[in-house]
Amino acid sequence: MERTLLLIKPDGLQRGLAGRILARFEDKGLQILALKVMRMTPELAGRHYAAHREKPFYKGLVSYMTSSPLVAAVLEGPRAVETTRRLMGATFGWKAEPGTIRGDFSNSTSYNLVHGSDSPESAEKEIALFFRPEEIAAYERTSDRWLISEDD
Ligand code: RTP
Ligand code: MG
Repeated sequence: MERTLLLIKPDGLQRGLAGRILARFEDKGLQILALKVMRMTPELAGRHYAAHREKPFYKGLVSYMTSSPLVAAVLEGPRAVETTRRLMGATFGWKAEPGTIRGDFSNSTSYNLVHGSDSPESAEKEIALFFRPEEIAAYERTSDRWLISEDD
């Protein structure tokens, strides 16, 4: 079982897409362990996007991510990191495959609606940036019996 951090970025919340975006992950069978609406501070943006600090788009990225509240969630499931990234689609909305969240709802380079951790190691670090351990609920989901098989 794996966990990942999902962010519905400010454009997703402003455009009223949060529920529909979240539903895609639930539809796929991922389990929501934590969920909140919050504003990303420049300090948190700096830590979350530390790897991009030297990139030309960094300043714009921080400004976008801190401009309005976002939704943060912890999702769990078999291969949660990869599954989440596949549902999101390629980074640029205009390049992302139709059927993915970015491919269906974004035609932009930067305003691409969602973030998902890119590895289990990043997921662990990112989850700790956004949630205190007591905010993450571990609970048994009765539908797991029909969503997850022995070989998952
Ligand atoms: P994310 O981290 O947000 O899940 O997105 P990602 O892995 O698909 O893309 P990443 O390379 O990590 O880039 C982080 C975010 O920066 C913005 N971006 N702008 N103008 C540009 O060339 C450019 N490149 C990236 C996007 O919002 C991207 O999601
Ligand atoms: Mg990334």
